[in-house]
Parts: sequence; C-alpha cells; structure tokens
Amino acid sequence: MAESTPFTVTAVERQPEEKYNFGAFVTGVDLNNISDDDVDRLKAAVWRHKVVVVKNQANLDPEKQWELVTRLDPKATDGHSHGNITSFRAKGGLLAQGREVVGIPGAENVRLIGKGFQGKDHYGIKNHTVERGLSNDFHNVPPSPSDFENGITRFQRWHIDAPLYGKDPAWFTTLRCVKLPRGEDLTIEWADGSGLSMRSPAGRTAFFSTSQLYSMLTLEEKQLIDHSWVEYAPYPYKWIERCRGNSNGLGLADGGTHLTIEELGEYDSSAVKKYPLVWVNPLTGEKAFQVHGICARRLYLRSSKDEEPRVIDDLQEIRKFILGIQNRILRPEYIFLAPAEEGDMVIWDNYGLFHSAIDYPLKMGPRTMHQANIAGSVGPKGPVPISLTA
Ligand SMILES: [Fe+2]
Repeated sequence: MAESTPFTVTAVERQPEEKYNFGAFVTGVDLNNISDDDVDRLKAAVWRHKVVVVKNQANLDPEKQWELVTRLDPKATDGHSHGNITSFRAKGGLLAQGREVVGIPGAENVRLIGKGFQGKDHYGIKNHTVERGLSNDFHNVPPSPSDFENGITRFQRWHIDAPLYGKDPAWFTTLRCVKLPRGEDLTIEWADGSGLSMRSPAGRTAFFSTSQLYSMLTLEEKQLIDHSWVEYAPYPYKWIERCRGNSNGLGLADGGTHLTIEELGEYDSSAVKKYPLVWVNPLTGEKAFQVHGICARRLYLRSSKDEEPRVIDDLQEIRKFILGIQNRILRPEYIFLAPAEEGDMVIWDNYGLFHSAIDYPLKMGPRTMHQANIAGSVGPKGPVPISLTA
C-alpha cells in the first residue's frame, strides 16, 4: 500500500495584469505510487483549482497514468471517453481527420499526442511521426506559411474533451508532458479584427474558466442559462467535419456546411445528448457556462422552471447566442497558459474549463504528450432539472 504524503498544492501566482482565477502546482507526490487518500486530495485540488500541474513525474509508467485516471473516477467503467481507437477512427469526424491516434502499448487508453518524430522507440512505438495531431488546419483562415514559420500562430480549437454522444464527458483529463519544443516564444493572434494577441512558449495548453465566465454575466442572463439546455448532434464531430473554425479558435466560421442527418447515417436516438447549459462543480458548487458550441444542434431556452422552452434550431442563431457569451472571456488576461515542463503531469477539470492546443513550427522540435481520460461515471448536473423528453 502506498503511504500518504504531505504533498503541497500552491496556487499559481498571477501578474497584476492577469485576471484568470485558477491554476495550481502540486509538488511532493509520486503518481507511480499514490495512496487512496492522496488520490482524493488530488481530486479535490483539481475540482478547486481547475488546472493542476503535478511536478516531476518524468518516470511515470503509462499503466500507472491510466490507473490514476480510473482511481480519480472509480465508478467509471467505459474506457477512454472517445471510445476505442477503431470507433474513434470511424466516427471521430473532425477530430480524427487524417490523424493517426496511437495508444501506448500495454496502456492503450493512454494516447500519444503531439507533433513530429517521436523517436526510434517511444514506449514500444517504433519510428512514429505525428503528422497532423497539432495543426492550424481547423481554421477557416490559417496564418500564412511564412508568418507561421516566424512564430505567428493561433489557438487551435477551444473545446472540452467530450464525445457528446453516447458516453458522458470525462470529469478530468490527464496530460503528461514528455517532450517539449524549444525556441523563442510564439505570438498567438486572435486575427478576428480585435487586434488581440499574447505570447506563449511553444508546446503549452491554454485554458479559460467557464465558471469565471458565468460570474461575468448579468442576473437576467444567469436566470436564462440556469434553466436552459442544449441538444448536441448525433456523431457531432462527424456532423461538423466539413466545417472550419474562427481564427480565434472559438466556434465555427460562417459558411461551413454540416452533414445532413441522412449523410450521418443511422444513429441511436437514445445516445443523443441533452445537457444543461450550466454545469455545477460537484465540490465547490460553482456554476460554469459549459456549452460546446460547435456541436450544438438545438437550444431550449427558458428563464424559469415552469416556462415552455423556446426552441432554437437555426445554427446561425445558436452560434450567435453561445459566442455572444463565450467571447467575453476570450481575452489574454483570462487565459492561463499552463506552464508545464517536461516530466510534469497536467490534470484539469473538464466540467469548468475550455482548453486549446497551440500549434508551432516543426523546426522547434517534436512535442510528445501522453493523454488519458475516462468517460464520466456521472454526467454533468445543472442547477435545475431539465426535461430530457422536450
Ligand atoms: Fe482536448
């Protein structure tokens, strides 16, 4: 039995101009050998701080990473939240396009993600090059090749790790940083007419808090979203595989064509997901505006329990409603670029944050990450009950 350790959780220190209100470092724990009590403390730290960077896990065994994932949600039984590698390739749509998803041998639910040549033998994976895992190919208007080579980049795609069909989203995602690119900081441009940009070391993951976003809303808006819900499309990532994203990485660009329901093929209507617009943090009770706009097919809006919901199925209108809220927080001061170094394990609350990778020029070297999460044993809970039959 592993012994409990007095590991330390230290909130991230922010500069005066930084306004994001989450993030912590954890030191003094060995994830290869962690006690049940420490798993509970770690879980509480993630619900509370939303992103924790667990320092010094360079020797973590991939099987132990998967074990940790299952211990953080012990009632979960469903495997990786995006399903096994075969089903992900068949129906992963936008997420799987041209992308080879590789599991670590012996711990297949731990996925190798990143960019570039992964070495002669990476935990048994031989001479593997990640071709398109990290790229700006989601954007309708990507940066020009010469700007990109000079370090101008974009948020790849703001999202939550959620299949939104069949399985419930993982509570947490674990991402161990094995190898990072090197070089000068990149400039992330919004390129949306706002003129906004921020600098970042290459290879980081960006986060904003959807609970902080909730706190920025008016009382009327809170009233409305507290009582409302969203219906996601069947096979939502396949549904949007012909669509492209806005330059700031948030939401779909105008003009894309969704697959028709006929093109999507047969689906199981009981697997279609309806979720509240607001997800309540099970530990702190904080509310988060957690809506994966790019996959939303219908909104059901009402401001009280007794009201008949107004159904919105016009995709333009859905997009306008969701981005009208989310764009308020997409500003440099609210974005946390988790400062993970090689060997660190990043664990985040997937029910209260959005995240995005950030592409970089390959001349800066390969990026190697081990990612794992498990479909949640219990899905998101809203502040008030919603009707799943409406
Ligand atoms: Fe992700």
